[in-house]
Amino acid sequence: VVAVPGDEEGLDPAAVEAAVVRERPKLLYTVPTFQNPTGRTLSAVRRRAVAEVAARRGLWVVEDDPYGELRFEGEPVPWIAAFAQDAGAADRTALISSYSKIMAPGLRLGLLRAPAPLLRACNVAKQAADLHTPTVNQLAAARYLADNDLDAHLARVRGAYRERRDALIAGLPDALPAGSRWNRPQGGMFVWAALPAGWNATEALREVV
Ligand SMILES: Cc1ncc(COP(=O)(O)O)c(C=O)c1O
Repeated sequence: VVAVPGDEEGLDPAAVEAAVVRERPKLLYTVPTFQNPTGRTLSAVRRRAVAEVAARRGLWVVEDDPYGELRFEGEPVPWIAAFAQDAGAADRTALISSYSKIMAPGLRLGLLRAPAPLLRACNVAKQAADLHTPTVNQLAAARYLADNDLDAHLARVRGAYRERRDALIAGLPDALPAGSRWNRPQGGMFVWAALPAGWNATEALREVV
């Protein structure tokens, strides 16, 4: 695994390209929206640039988006997969998401959108790993989706997580040493805080747990 540097706007497409040239990786795995653990969201400009790197360099992109639906404010940013369509990389992007964050984690259900040949390969790989996701879980989820309004549920979920983000951010000034900095993500489950110079987060962890 080769890490790619980034900043508040997410990963740096030029660094992605440099890493692809240097390392010849099989794929780029990225969480572009409300990333775990930084809460960062990759800007539209950078998403397009990543899609263009994919097209130019023959790079596969696996875009993991379990948090995108948990947006409390601001405008949604299109998936990298959407930019890949224009960039000519649609045949090498896969989008994965999960019902864990919006419905129920215990069901172990998610979704994959990918080019047909990859879907076939994934099917075989999943069968080799666990035969298949339990039928009862799949039927329960299908029933839930048929009988309930997922959008209405999402509105409730967003409200709950927005409250938690606001409470967390309101508490940080008292909880962290002076000079700490943190972001204010427009959704998701994560806020990233940085301690001031002289503090070591790993050492501080021992005292707070
Ligand atoms: C980026 C990301 N992908 C996937 C998962 C897990 O999803 P699932 O419960 O569907 O395995 C998590 C967190 O649990 C996550 O942060």
